[in-house]
Amino acid sequence: MDNPRTFHVKSFGCQMNVYDGERMSELLQAEGMTAAAEGSDADLVVLNTCHIRERASEKVYSDIGRLRRDDGSRPMIAVAGCVAQAEGAEIPRRAPAVDIVVGPQAYHRLPELVRKARGGEKALDTDMPLQSKFGALPARRRQGTSAFLTVQEGCDKFCTYCVVPYTRGAEVSRGWAAIVDEAKALVDGGAREITLLGQNVNAWEGEDERGRLQGLDGLIRALDALPGLERIRYTTSHPNDMREGLIRAHAEVAKLMPYLHLPVQSGSSRILKAMNRSHTAESYLDVISRVRAARPDIAISGDFIVGFPGETEADFEDTLKIVAAVNYAQAYSFKYSPRPGTPAAAMNEQVPAEMMDERLQRLQALLSERSLAFNRATIGKRTSVLIERQGRRPGQMLGKSPWLQSVHVETEAKIGEVIEVEIEGALPNSLAGRMLTLTPTAVAA
Ligand code: 5AD
Ligand code: SF4
Repeated sequence: MDNPRTFHVKSFGCQMNVYDGERMSELLQAEGMTAAAEGSDADLVVLNTCHIRERASEKVYSDIGRLRRDDGSRPMIAVAGCVAQAEGAEIPRRAPAVDIVVGPQAYHRLPELVRKARGGEKALDTDMPLQSKFGALPARRRQGTSAFLTVQEGCDKFCTYCVVPYTRGAEVSRGWAAIVDEAKALVDGGAREITLLGQNVNAWEGEDERGRLQGLDGLIRALDALPGLERIRYTTSHPNDMREGLIRAHAEVAKLMPYLHLPVQSGSSRILKAMNRSHTAESYLDVISRVRAARPDIAISGDFIVGFPGETEADFEDTLKIVAAVNYAQAYSFKYSPRPGTPAAAMNEQVPAEMMDERLQRLQALLSERSLAFNRATIGKRTSVLIERQGRRPGQMLGKSPWLQSVHVETEAKIGEVIEVEIEGALPNSLAGRMLTLTPTAVAA
C-alpha cells in the first residue's frame, strides 16, 4: 500500500469521541497528511466508533462495506474508539478490509500502525498503557469557538449495563499543568468556550501548580482567570461526585455556565440498585436541590434508560415522577441494550421489546413537553449568546444561550462574539432572539 497522503476521521457517539477524533486529525496532520472532506476519497479513513448502544457497532460494519470505491479499490481503513477496544482482533476477522484496529488509549501510536499496515500486515493496538497518550500527542490546533478538552477518562463505577469501564479503562485524571496549557492553546486558537470532558468529569482531582489538592472546581476557577475565555462547561457528571466545592462554583464563578448534565438513569431506587448506580432517587433529588440553591436558574439535563432488566410498570412510573420533580431542561433517553460482558446482560427478566418501545415513547413525550416549557419560559428574557456559526438564512447567525439552547438571531456579529439578545420565540429545539447590543466581552448569563 502507498503512503497515505490524505485522511478522513469519522467520529460516532459521545463528545469524548469528538475530542479524540480531533486529536487523531491533529496527529495525522503533524505526520504531513491533509484532511479530505469525503470518506472514500481519502487514502486513510478512521472510523472512531461508539459501543454504548447496539446499533452503533453494527453501523460500523456497514460503514466499512460502504468505503469501497467505484473502481473497486478502497482506502486504508482504521477502526478506532470503543468498538475497537471491545472487539479487537474480531474486527479484521469479520471485516477483512480493516487494516488497523486502535483502542481509545492507544491512538497516539496511529502513525506506527499506519506504517505497519502499509507493509500489508494487520495492525492492532488495544493496550491501555500506564503512561497517558496525551504526552505523546502534538499541540492543539484551531478548533473553533467552542472546544472540548478531556480532563478525565475512564470509570471505576461499573454500572451493570455499561461497557465504559471495560472500553475506556480505570478512572484517570490528567495533570493540572497539561490541562491549563491545553486550555491556553485552545483560547489562543480562537476558542471562547471550553467544555471539560470526562466519563466522570466531576471525579477529576489533581495537584495545582503549588502542590495543593484540587477538585474540578479548582480547575474551573483556574480557567476562569484565562483572558479571552468567555464560557466554561463540563460533562458528564456522576451524582455521587457532585461535591460542595463544585456546587459552590456554580454560585461564584461567572464564566461557569448555568447548565448541568447529571444522569439519573431511572427514578426507581430498586432499579438504581440493580444498576449498581450507588445513589438513590432521593439522594439524586437532594443533589439537585443543593445545586438549585446555589444557582436557581440552572438548566438540568439527564440520561435515562428504560426497560432495564426487571423494570416493572411501577418502576417506570417512578422514572416519570422524577422527570416531573426535576423538571429537566433537556434529556437523552434510551432503550436498555444488553452489552456483551456486562452483568446486566446476564440478568433474568429482560423486558420485552414492545414494552420498552411503549415506555420510551411515554418518557420522551414527557421530556419533550418539559423542554418546550423550559424554552418557552425564556421568551421575553434578555440573555447573552455566544455566536458559533452562520444560520441558514442570509444575515442570520446561530449561537448558544448560557443554558445551552440554540438561538437564531439576525446580527452582524461575528463567530466567537458574545452578544446580548432578547428571546422572542421558542421551538422544542431552538429559540429565536432579537439582537440588543454587541458586547463582545460580556459573560453575564
Ligand atoms: N443500554 C442503553 N443505554 C445505555 N447507556 C449506557 N449503557 C447503556 C446500555 N447498555 C446510556 C446511559 C448513559 C448514556 C451515555 O448512555 O444513559 O448515561
Ligand atoms: Fe458507565 Fe456508570 Fe461509569 Fe457512567 S458511571 S461511564 S454509566 S459505568
